[in-house]
Amino acid sequence: MKAPLLLIMTVWLNTQYGGSFVSSSCSHPPSQWCSSLDTAIQCGVLKHCLESNFTRSHQTADPIQVGLYYESLCPGCRIFLTEMLFPTWVLLHDIMTVTLVPYGNAVEKPDGQKYVFDCQHGEQECLGNMIETCLLNMTSIAFPVIFCMESSSDVIKSAKSCLELYNPGLSWDKIMGCVKGDLGNQLMHLNAMKTKALNPPHNYVPWVTINGEHTDDLQDKAMASLFTLVCNMYKGTKPAACGGGQRHFKSYCHNE
Ligand SMILES: *[C@@H]1O[C@H](CO)[C@@H](O)[C@H](O)[C@H]1NC(C)=O
Ligand SMILES: *[C@@H]1O[C@H](CO)[C@@H](O)[C@H](O)[C@H]1NC(C)=O
Repeated sequence: MKAPLLLIMTVWLNTQYGGSFVSSSCSHPPSQWCSSLDTAIQCGVLKHCLESNFTRSHQTADPIQVGLYYESLCPGCRIFLTEMLFPTWVLLHDIMTVTLVPYGNAVEKPDGQKYVFDCQHGEQECLGNMIETCLLNMTSIAFPVIFCMESSSDVIKSAKSCLELYNPGLSWDKIMGCVKGDLGNQLMHLNAMKTKALNPPHNYVPWVTINGEHTDDLQDKAMASLFTLVCNMYKGTKPAACGGGQRHFKSYCHNE
């Protein structure tokens, strides 16, 4: 289980920080690495893609639905999202889904036909929440962009370059059109309603739901190791990443 985790995180971290692990012939965004054998080879991730394709085609039970209610500048949210949720999703996306709801402890007030929002960490946080909300609406591969933003030293300033790196097909202007326009306002109101509908109501963030449910026990387990929780809860055939015993690391080169 350790080996693929290290490999994949090395790939992600190296692309993140401009490293050279990914071969220079890899000019595709991560979302397309497994789209063909050629790109998988060019990007040095063939083994991972083959395993992930195999697991997907053999998925035998409903995926575990992980929901995260959070706000873009809350330090604990950033740590959970970047160090727990995202790495778990990279390894287990065949058996889990992730729903992100950026809003958290914000408050909304109606203002004519629109809403105005007041965020716990100020206006910059409202902007971060809005950018992430628009990303989630406008692309099916928003999560790597959001991971990139949340792991940067400046969540807001990094947004444009994170989008260019992970989703070069989507223009920043389109995202900003949503952020400043009616669409963003409507989508943020939906986030407010989803957050208010939580049962039990949230009293902190990051607030985790598993298959739509929140309990202290599930929250504690998710915080301790979401990876273990998802592997344990998944009812179908466990993927290799969960450590199903398909791998044999015990292999020695003996001396004379
Ligand atoms: C993974 O599956 C997709 C869709 O079935 C296929 O097009 C692609 O070539 C596969 N990738 C690899 C590396 O086998
Ligand atoms: C984006 O938002 C619009 C307007 O609320 C909605 O109709 C559409 O289904 C959303 N798309 C996604 C992928 O969430």
